Amino acid sequence: MATVQQTQRLIPQVKGAPLVGNTFQFIRDPLAFLSRLQQQYDRLVRFTIANRLVTLTLTPEDAKHILQENNKNFVKSDAYKVLSLFLGNGLLNSEGDFWRRQRRLAQPAFHRQRLALLVDTMVQETQELVERWKQHTTALPVDISEEMMKLTLEIVTRSLFSSDVKKHLGNISKEITTIIEFAYAELHSFVHIPTHYPTPRNIRYRRAVEKVEGIIYDIINQRRAEKASGNHVRYDDLLEMLMEARDEETGDQMTDKQLRDEVTTIFMAGHETTANALAWSLYLLAKHPEVASKVREEVHRVIGSEGIPTAETVRALSYTLQVIQETMRLYPPAWLFGRKPVIDEPLGEYVLPANFGVLICPYLLHRDPKHWTNPDQFNPDNFLPERLKERPAYSYIPFGGGPRLCIGNNFALMEMQVVLALLVRTFDFHTTRRNVIEPEPGITLRPKGGLRLRISPMSI
Ligand code: HEM
Repeated sequence: MATVQQTQRLIPQVKGAPLVGNTFQFIRDPLAFLSRLQQQYDRLVRFTIANRLVTLTLTPEDAKHILQENNKNFVKSDAYKVLSLFLGNGLLNSEGDFWRRQRRLAQPAFHRQRLALLVDTMVQETQELVERWKQHTTALPVDISEEMMKLTLEIVTRSLFSSDVKKHLGNISKEITTIIEFAYAELHSFVHIPTHYPTPRNIRYRRAVEKVEGIIYDIINQRRAEKASGNHVRYDDLLEMLMEARDEETGDQMTDKQLRDEVTTIFMAGHETTANALAWSLYLLAKHPEVASKVREEVHRVIGSEGIPTAETVRALSYTLQVIQETMRLYPPAWLFGRKPVIDEPLGEYVLPANFGVLICPYLLHRDPKHWTNPDQFNPDNFLPERLKERPAYSYIPFGGGPRLCIGNNFALMEMQVVLALLVRTFDFHTTRRNVIEPEPGITLRPKGGLRLRISPMSI
């Protein structure tokens, strides 16, 4: 009988330059570099970035193996450490029994029925934007990327901390932007200066973290004090759910530090990803007016020309959902993520060596011509219910998969449906002279140089 050693095949490796390997090819244009590898290799390929050998997986089957079937043999890749600087031991970064317990505690807060309570918040924040845009001059383009960042930050903030908190938060978006920019820079940097060194960048970053953290602790303390005094108001928000959650086995609740980590994680994970998906949706609708008309027609039919969306009507916006799904196929906000096997992990006739990074790239899987016809074309019909069965599982994974599937996926989909419905019902979107916007891959997939569109009010 052949031993494992005899049947094992070597994973092909891309030639690189001495010392730096493939680092510069990757950094110069990651999407082009990875897309070339997808054309040249079938299943697995290795390359070196910053002195580390990583394996890129190219098939939905292997993504399923890593994320779902054998997920217990993998931990998150080293890149997540950059995020843990600010996010601490929140759901995105934690591992093992600690992660399992936290996920169990947080899960009910994201249940569909609970989320239905947040629709009003989503509607109100979007309507404020609609009113503001109605005053805008049609001729001037609007910075859609920035507007969507602001809107999703407002929505996630109010979903976490209810309405009275807006004043408390003041100018938090500036701090959040500082933190995100810091994380982006760290991810692309080869030299990591510890954050306690007093460089101007570190000082700016630490101040931003302290301000955000201070506000979160203030709110937690205020609620604990209210409860202790018997004056506790019930808040219909995510923080209340997290503070009330009890471990079924031990009866334990989250400590203040755990609450802080989960809240900052939800802040970060739930804001920029959704903002980018919305910006890309509006870009694609501006380029495809016939699709925008179909969305508008659906919104008029389901919600009406003046109606307020509710959890029930939002669920009926099936074509709008298809548009969102197709947008995230072409521009998945989480375009690349990584894992590390903790033991040598067999993958068919190959072996992924323990402790070496493995990359899963939704951007490549979502444009693989083996599973998608005309993969680079925008076609919301790809998500007609009857088409879903034609494709293998894990050929579409904008929210990841397996036990680490995005906990906020239903939140994000509902939010995007509400926002698109209200914006597309009221406005028409037009591209400016810069008609083609390239994606810029960082922690999320942003429109390069931002996205500016002209908007004009729809005459009903
Ligand atoms: C379009 C929007 C979003 C996209 C594309 C997205 C994508 C993802 C992906 C791919 C993962 C898995 C990462 C991995 O396996 O390494 C993830 C995890 C996570 N997401 Fe999202 N996300 C979105 C919105 C949200 C929202 C709105 C929230 C919260 C309100 C959220 C909270 C989280 C959390 C807490 C995790 C970690 C879950 C765990 O490991 O248990 N996300 N997200």
